[in-house]
Amino acid sequence: MCGIVGYVGEEQAVPVILEGLRRLEYRGYDSAGVAVLNHSGMQVVKEVGKLKMLRQRLQDEPITGTTGIGHTRWATHGVPSQLNAHPHCDCTNSFTVVHNGIIENYTDLRNELIERGHRFASDTDTEIVVHLIEENYTGDLLEAMLQAMRRLSGAYALATICMHEPDTIVAARCGSPLVIGCGNGCGLVASDASAILEHTRKVVYLEDYHAARLDRSRLVIRDIKGVQHEPLFKEINLNLTDIEKGGHPHYMIKEIFEQPALVNDVIMRRISPSNEIQFREARLEGLGLESLERIQMVSCGTAYHASMVGKYFLENLARLPVEVDIASEFRYRSPVLNENTLVVAISQSGETADTLAGVKEAHERGAKVLSLINVEGSSIDRASDSTLYVYAGPEIAVASTKAYSAQLLALLLFSLHLGRKRGTIESDLYRTLLDELRALPKKMQWILDNHETVKLCSKKFSGAAHFLYLGRSFNYPNALEGALKLKELSYIHAEGCGAGEMKHGPIALIDGTFPVVCITPAGRVYEKMLSNIEEIRARKGIVIAVATEGNAEIAKHCDYVMYIPTVNEMLSPLLTVIPLQLLAYYVTILNGLDVDQPRNLAKSVTVE
Ligand code: M6R
Repeated sequence: MCGIVGYVGEEQAVPVILEGLRRLEYRGYDSAGVAVLNHSGMQVVKEVGKLKMLRQRLQDEPITGTTGIGHTRWATHGVPSQLNAHPHCDCTNSFTVVHNGIIENYTDLRNELIERGHRFASDTDTEIVVHLIEENYTGDLLEAMLQAMRRLSGAYALATICMHEPDTIVAARCGSPLVIGCGNGCGLVASDASAILEHTRKVVYLEDYHAARLDRSRLVIRDIKGVQHEPLFKEINLNLTDIEKGGHPHYMIKEIFEQPALVNDVIMRRISPSNEIQFREARLEGLGLESLERIQMVSCGTAYHASMVGKYFLENLARLPVEVDIASEFRYRSPVLNENTLVVAISQSGETADTLAGVKEAHERGAKVLSLINVEGSSIDRASDSTLYVYAGPEIAVASTKAYSAQLLALLLFSLHLGRKRGTIESDLYRTLLDELRALPKKMQWILDNHETVKLCSKKFSGAAHFLYLGRSFNYPNALEGALKLKELSYIHAEGCGAGEMKHGPIALIDGTFPVVCITPAGRVYEKMLSNIEEIRARKGIVIAVATEGNAEIAKHCDYVMYIPTVNEMLSPLLTVIPLQLLAYYVTILNGLDVDQPRNLAKSVTVE
């Protein structure tokens, strides 16, 4: 999604903004631009494509000024082009605006503004905002922004500067994230804190329907009704090293390799030496867990696959019925919920628009919401009754890897906690699973240290046109996740399917050129998976199995085997997903594609 950075201070604004935009590149974008104020007026430079194109333009035609705003645009209204790139200017070239989100009533507003004589230069929804500000400006930029906000519906994070108030940025938020930073002699605004970390750790997360005026030393916040609010300062709890590649060629591989350490950290944090599971930060008491009748999960993409695994965990361990929905469907299907339903929303970013809408829907229908979130202070975090952080650390690559593992771990721990509370889990099983969990980081590391077959398969099949992924039971969601990872990164068509469903349709696809990844760890459904493998072989399909170390027999039935260490089958998704993530990574780089920022994708999908 679009990224916003603004700076007002003593330094030149352009380098600060470009560095901030670089940190936001992971969000996904197709054009970029900056605007700065100087004695000659409003200077705006925009380019289509990656940030390096903009950087090059600015080297050739430098612009100076100590107040500015910048933007990376992920196209919604209007194709990626110089005209549609932000910042957008008003008719007099005195005001300029950058925006993340979608203004839903933009057509009506645009027609209205055109009737009143405004001239539009782009096809974007954003441009109406700058004309509204122009029209409402009577000497106070914050007031003009508030007036404009009163006309807007939809989602927005906005930043604006104007010629008449050269040392000021005004920012506003409704539904899309925006953070304000107060540095030493400077004010900053950004879509997320990583963009301004080098300048300050003192930030304010702007609330919905609030707007802020910031300069080098002051910050004033008012809500849409004009009421002033005291800024609620927070300290950013992030290190620069957390958001660098740390010697790896790509963020994705760094994040895949971080999984053993993060699982270890979460286990140390959550499981006491006496085997108690602790969720200190989460206010679970208020969720009515005692009278719970069912659980409804809401999420998107990879987080949806984690929710599906969570269903298996919760039903097995806590014996509660669990329903899993894609958030974009949940919000429009009139779900039946009541005060005895717990809605569990899962999101890495905590900003996904559909999941956030699902949380609101749940509240309107009387249910309590527990969220599993990676980004503290995010919109879903703040909108939920209780949040359980998954503690994956910053995930920069667009493809979610370590956050998925952290979500599975959080779901497993929550299921064990709930199972114990409800008396639905035998103490032997409880102890066994905790012991198995403690052994997990070493097993994950073993996979990372021994993945030659993954590399071999990547080389062999990087030119394949299609892949099929099959799994059953706890590993059925990983079949979907493996396929999603491959298609979103390598643009190779991939489908995931419950192995039992194969003969109800997908089997028709199989021929001698078709690689099928079969997730086949030891466990209750192992024999069933073997039957599926035979069915594929009988049709000359190519079988790549993910199987348990020591199972030499399976090699006789498959073309390739990617091994994982022996593990309790309930925990196996935390291991089987690693070769699938690595396969997607290697296939993508072998095809010369941008693995961290795949085309058309955004890291956090803050629009519907
Ligand atoms: O931030 P969220 O977990 O809410 O994001 C949900 C999806 O947009 C995300 O998982 C997406 O599917 C990723 N590209 C998967 O790698």
